[in-house]
Amino acid sequence: MTMQASTNQAAAADSVISLRGVRKQFGSHRVVDDLSFDVRRGEIVTLLGRTGAGKTTVLNMIMGTTRADAGAVQVAGFDPFKQFEALKGRLAVAFQTDRLLPWRTAVQNAELGLLILGEGRDSARAKAIAALASVNLAGAEDKYPHELSGGMRQRVSLARALAVDPELILLDESFSQLDHVTSRTLRQDFCKVARESRKTCLIVTHRIDDALEMADRVIVLGPGAEIMLEMPLAEARVDEASRDRCRAQIEAALGGKDDDEEA
Ligand SMILES: Nc1ncnc2c1ncn2[C@@H]1O[C@H](COP(=O)(O)OP(=O)(O)OP(=O)(O)O)[C@@H](O)[C@H]1O
Ligand SMILES: [Mg+2]
Repeated sequence: MTMQASTNQAAAADSVISLRGVRKQFGSHRVVDDLSFDVRRGEIVTLLGRTGAGKTTVLNMIMGTTRADAGAVQVAGFDPFKQFEALKGRLAVAFQTDRLLPWRTAVQNAELGLLILGEGRDSARAKAIAALASVNLAGAEDKYPHELSGGMRQRVSLARALAVDPELILLDESFSQLDHVTSRTLRQDFCKVARESRKTCLIVTHRIDDALEMADRVIVLGPGAEIMLEMPLAEARVDEASRDRCRAQIEAALGGKDDDEEA
């Protein structure tokens, strides 16, 4: 066994997500070409890349809604595509838009996942109320989505994901549509909850700030979902200078500054 293979196997033991040699092609367009990475239990990892890099496609394969053409995808030891049912309740997702049901109040939206999983009404309600409080929405339980700001609606969507107490949380550009201030406080609040409850999180984003503020590790994807850079980010939160250094490295891997970044 080569050194690389033994390292991979060691990493896989406590991995919640594991991809090995994954490939995905749409027609003649190879969107993901030979991608391998792990996300360990309790880790927060951001998958960063420019539009079209294949981030959402990778997330869809991890969710089990898209099948890989080649290679292996494992989530908590299961193949998410073939064993979709096994991951019910163990994996939760929040997207770029909140996807709330307009005719249900905040708490009714937040408890939806639990009710679908067969949780009793009272217990689902209690867990949804607690999840809303954890994202600082106590008091807004009975408001309808149209009565909430965009940031608050996104909080409800995160509460809906947290309420089922999943092992793994996947976020796809969940902070991208909000203004910078709103998105920063939401990032901070989400990270606090995620870290306190030791959730494993994979956060897909094109914003460098999402990575710098939230992640233990960043994986930068280039065209074909090729890994351009993989870097731990604990250092980025030590001081301003370290943060700037990390940012510069990520920008270089992305091939330039992102127009969408905060000044
Ligand atoms: N179901 C599909 N059928 C055909 N092509 C697809 C499909 N899904 C994605 N693609 C193509 O694959 C490429 C990668 O798309 P993907 O959505 O994964 O990128 P992304 O990195 O998430 O981009 P963004 O930052 O814009 O969300 C794009 O060129 C897209 O058009
Ligand atoms: Mg996408």
